[in-house]
Amino acid sequence: MEGVHVIVGGFMSIDGKIAPADRRGREFSQYMRPEHEQILHSIRAGVDAVIVGVNTVIADDPTLTVRNVEGKNPLRVIIDSQAKTPLDAKILNIKKEDHAIVETLIVVAKNAPKNRVEQIIKNKNTGVMYSSGLNRVDLHDLLFELAAKYGVKRVLVEGGGEVRWSFFEQKLVDELFVWIMPTVWGGRSAPTLVEGTGFLKAKDAVNLKFKSINQVENILILWFNVNH
Ligand SMILES: NC(=O)c1ccc[n+]([C@@H]2O[C@H](COP(=O)([O-])OP(=O)(O)OC[C@H]3O[C@@H](n4cnc5c(N)ncnc54)[C@H](OP(=O)(O)O)[C@@H]3O)[C@@H](O)[C@H]2O)c1
Repeated sequence: MEGVHVIVGGFMSIDGKIAPADRRGREFSQYMRPEHEQILHSIRAGVDAVIVGVNTVIADDPTLTVRNVEGKNPLRVIIDSQAKTPLDAKILNIKKEDHAIVETLIVVAKNAPKNRVEQIIKNKNTGVMYSSGLNRVDLHDLLFELAAKYGVKRVLVEGGGEVRWSFFEQKLVDELFVWIMPTVWGGRSAPTLVEGTGFLKAKDAVNLKFKSINQVENILILWFNVNH
């Protein structure tokens, strides 16, 4: 997307799983040490908005804040066509910071149930943005609106697999980082880094240009640029 730099990132086992087969991704946080959290939180502090899909909020209940380093919390954006985000989700209940216009933005489709949307906006820290998509959030439109209304220039898409796929499929990604955990999880129904329907031809698949690799304790951190 012209004007908005999109970074996609995630953690996976060496066999490409981003959560166990029961989809509770919090199990993976066991591999994170304070130094890993500092790196992740510095990446978050370097973007204006962090984006996740609603299934990630339901499965992992993340806060997506900057905690272990100096820096402002990015705007937290949940892609949630039908406004299914649980009202008691941690992400909706974080104290508002002075600088923030809204802390968390739920992006819904045009046909989102009105009663759910009304319940969500009762929370003063949460805004709702209607996407131009009828029954699914339109990502081009989302990036355009984030730039226009919130001055967003850099976003981090933290997951899950379906949302990452949509960003890749629509050629919206500029950079990718992958953290490889020293572990094998298996599970044919366990979610992988990028899900969706997938590409069938090499000419359609995403081409990456290797940028860097760091070993931080027992985790490998790889960065790539996306070749457009
Ligand atoms: N290790 C990691 O890096 C990491 C990070 C995050 C999550 N996870 C794991 O990933 C799993 C959740 O990922 P997931 O793939 O099931 O779901 P997800 O990507 O978190 O959310 C997908 C949902 O977003 C909504 N959506 C709305 N518009 C969309 C669009 N344009 N493109 C894609 N999705 C759109 C859809 O639900 P509606 O149609 O209802 O809106 C869709 O089902 C959990 O197991 C979690 O633990 C792991």
